[in-house]
Amino acid sequence: MVPVVDLSRRGRQQAAEFAQRVAQIAERGVYLIGPETESFETELAAWAEAPDAVTVSSGASALQLSLAALGVGPGDEVIVPSFTAVPTASAVAALGAVPVPVDVEPHTANLDPSLVALARTARTKAVVVVHLYGLPASLPVTDLPIVEDAAQAQGAVTDHARSAAVAYSFYPTKNLGGIGDGGAIVSHDRELISTIRRLRVHGMTQHYVHESVSQNFRMSEIEAAWLRTGLPKLATWNARRRDIAHRYREAAPHMNWQATSPDHVYHLCVLRSTERERFRAALAERGVATAVHYPRAITQQPAYADRVRGGCPQSEAWAAECVSLPCFAEMTDDEIDQVAAALSALHPNGASS
Ligand SMILES: Cc1ncc(COP(=O)(O)O)c(C=O)c1O
Repeated sequence: MVPVVDLSRRGRQQAAEFAQRVAQIAERGVYLIGPETESFETELAAWAEAPDAVTVSSGASALQLSLAALGVGPGDEVIVPSFTAVPTASAVAALGAVPVPVDVEPHTANLDPSLVALARTARTKAVVVVHLYGLPASLPVTDLPIVEDAAQAQGAVTDHARSAAVAYSFYPTKNLGGIGDGGAIVSHDRELISTIRRLRVHGMTQHYVHESVSQNFRMSEIEAAWLRTGLPKLATWNARRRDIAHRYREAAPHMNWQATSPDHVYHLCVLRSTERERFRAALAERGVATAVHYPRAITQQPAYADRVRGGCPQSEAWAAECVSLPCFAEMTDDEIDQVAAALSALHPNGASS
């Protein structure tokens, strides 16, 4: 079976260099916010052509702390796309604020920017825009601060100055995946980054002086060392993902694909099928594994039911029809051929063509 993702292949490639770095960390005896973290933050900022970057414990924390640093707090509203990973919404809820789900575009699966003004109220404090599956989203034209959720989009955001903050996740399956949890915020606003640095360590400004109420959002030195081995390879990995997706799309132009753009980094290569389970079963019969990201829109999640003001039909249609195909940089050419051949032999409804 061709897997949707196989992290062990990258793990084996990076193991030797990583082992050396871990040995150095062990000998140094600095395990949190030490030289590996500082170097990674400098390298990430340079990669993003931004003045500064700060690492945190996860992508969800990156969103939460970006919003907290922008002043979002209890009772405020934050507009989020209704079709996304739940952490986009839970990061807002963690601040006591209300995530307000807004529908997505039918062709991109990204937030429909034209709906932002309609969802805005006197309590709206920010908008979170998600670049879903790695496809860069259009930002709404608004005077509200925008936080970009680029958890799935490392390499797809080419300008880190257009929004207040860009939040990344290093969850292991991400394009730049970690060996545990991690996240980062990139911003051109140095004050925002310095506020997040304080919020990352219990709101502490000097040793045992706490000027903000916060908690622990640190990332480990080991994680930073791992990410430093990967960052220089990210552009090559993303190019390989793009090649894989283009191959599938060329082999099966009759499928209902997510829209694309030259900057799409294909964290996931996704199409839609109105007969999803039949389509997935037909691919499985041809030795191709698939996954569903995500089977429910935020509007359909029991935990968020009390925040829902109206249906989000496009989000709910994506949730009913989306199918993720195998797409990761370490796929072999034979595996890619196998997936392409299976797609070209099927109708979008799963019947043989
Ligand atoms: C779109 C999106 N936002 C936020 C997150 C949260 O990232 P993490 O799992 O690192 O907290 C994820 C990943 O899980 C994600 O895919």
